[in-house]
Amino acid sequence: MDRGINSFKQFITQNKAMENLVVDKAAPVAGMHVVKNSTMKALVYYGPGKKAWEDQPRPVLKDATDVIVKVLKTTICGTDLHIIKGDMPEVAEGRILGHEGVGIIEEVGASVSNFKKGDHVIISCVTSCGRCEYCKKGMYSHCENGGWILGYMINGTQAEYVRIPYADNSLFPIPAGADEEALVMLSDILPTGFECGVLNGQVKPGDTIAIVGAGPVGMAALLTAQFYTPAEIIVIDQDDNRLEVAKTFGATQTINSAKENAIEKVMALTNGKGVDTAIEAVGVPATFELCEEIISAGGHIANIGVHGKSVVLHMEKLWDRNISITTRLVDTVTTPMLFKTVQSKKIEPKKLITHRFKLDEMIKAYDTFEHAAREKALKVLLTS
Ligand SMILES: NC(=O)c1ccc[n+]([C@@H]2O[C@H](COP(=O)([O-])OP(=O)(O)OC[C@H]3O[C@@H](n4cnc5c(N)ncnc54)[C@H](O)[C@@H]3O)[C@@H](O)[C@H]2O)c1
Ligand SMILES: [Zn+2]
Ligand SMILES: [Zn+2]
Repeated sequence: MDRGINSFKQFITQNKAMENLVVDKAAPVAGMHVVKNSTMKALVYYGPGKKAWEDQPRPVLKDATDVIVKVLKTTICGTDLHIIKGDMPEVAEGRILGHEGVGIIEEVGASVSNFKKGDHVIISCVTSCGRCEYCKKGMYSHCENGGWILGYMINGTQAEYVRIPYADNSLFPIPAGADEEALVMLSDILPTGFECGVLNGQVKPGDTIAIVGAGPVGMAALLTAQFYTPAEIIVIDQDDNRLEVAKTFGATQTINSAKENAIEKVMALTNGKGVDTAIEAVGVPATFELCEEIISAGGHIANIGVHGKSVVLHMEKLWDRNISITTRLVDTVTTPMLFKTVQSKKIEPKKLITHRFKLDEMIKAYDTFEHAAREKALKVLLTS
């Protein structure tokens, strides 16, 4: 897929006329289609610092592998804040944001076989065709026909309706009676914290690990790291409220890096050795460099954060430390496993939801999440 801004603008212009047209199936005369304009509300990005909750054309099926989902619940991610800050200039103006949510299938493309109208589904933040070289390796994040495109390269879930390409591989079925609030956390943050942080960081029993960033993604790493029973989990952030919450989720030590010297404190807690795994869940140079400072010999730095600026890699200090550094865009390959742990309440990600809004209170929800420290916010949930 060509991710150039210009080609996407062209694509949008070419398709705008089509998107405005919806065939009304309840046409009064058999065999005759009445074409009408159909709109919905959506959160649209208009360049750095600019967004609007406004009328947009309702999505329609484009390919036989698509479905249209009516969004029942959605949320806002730290990545959406990066986009709005202007960290990701490749996002076209006019893009509907959002890559998380659960919904009900409204319309199904001709070749979709796993889902039918009325099914409840988890929308994965990553779209996967299931057929390309990367999908066959399980690296869905780099699917040649999808990957992370939702709310980024194609319109996303912060809307009343969303078109999901390659629906058979990009949606997860919700069984009747499941707690759909908790399942919103499976669209992105749980697989992200687990795959990019815990699995790449090779967390093992008895390890001492540090999680830098106690946002929803850092908290997801905190919850899922405990599958492997690390001995110590040090959570570092600048928000006292989030650090308090981290303690209730299993952090054994917390450090407010705005008030204390985080490097000195981690070294004091680890007998001067540093941590076995440092998980970066913020996405700014300072926090990645903090991970470089606190990693022990043989340790693993697992980056999760989306970075908009270059980071200094201190090879003059690290070249002989036998460490590994990993980066990853979440693949969502662990969603089925994580779903079971949520269903059995081995982990309870619903506790991450601090604020609930109606879908059309989107701007208020953004304001709350953007001022997370002031509002004592973690995950904000929007329900239609
Ligand atoms: N790799 C992936 O596939 C992937 C997927 C989803 C999200 N992400 C990224 O993960 C990161 C975290 O997402 P989130 O939703 O939890 O975001 P968030 O903005 O809610 O959380 C970030 C946390 O970092 C803290 N923080 C900011 N600056 C700090 C500093 N200098 N020192 C210590 N703490 C600091 C904030 O107080 C906040 O609690 C973001 O960068 C997001 O884009 C990556
Ligand atoms: Zn996200
Ligand atoms: Zn693919």
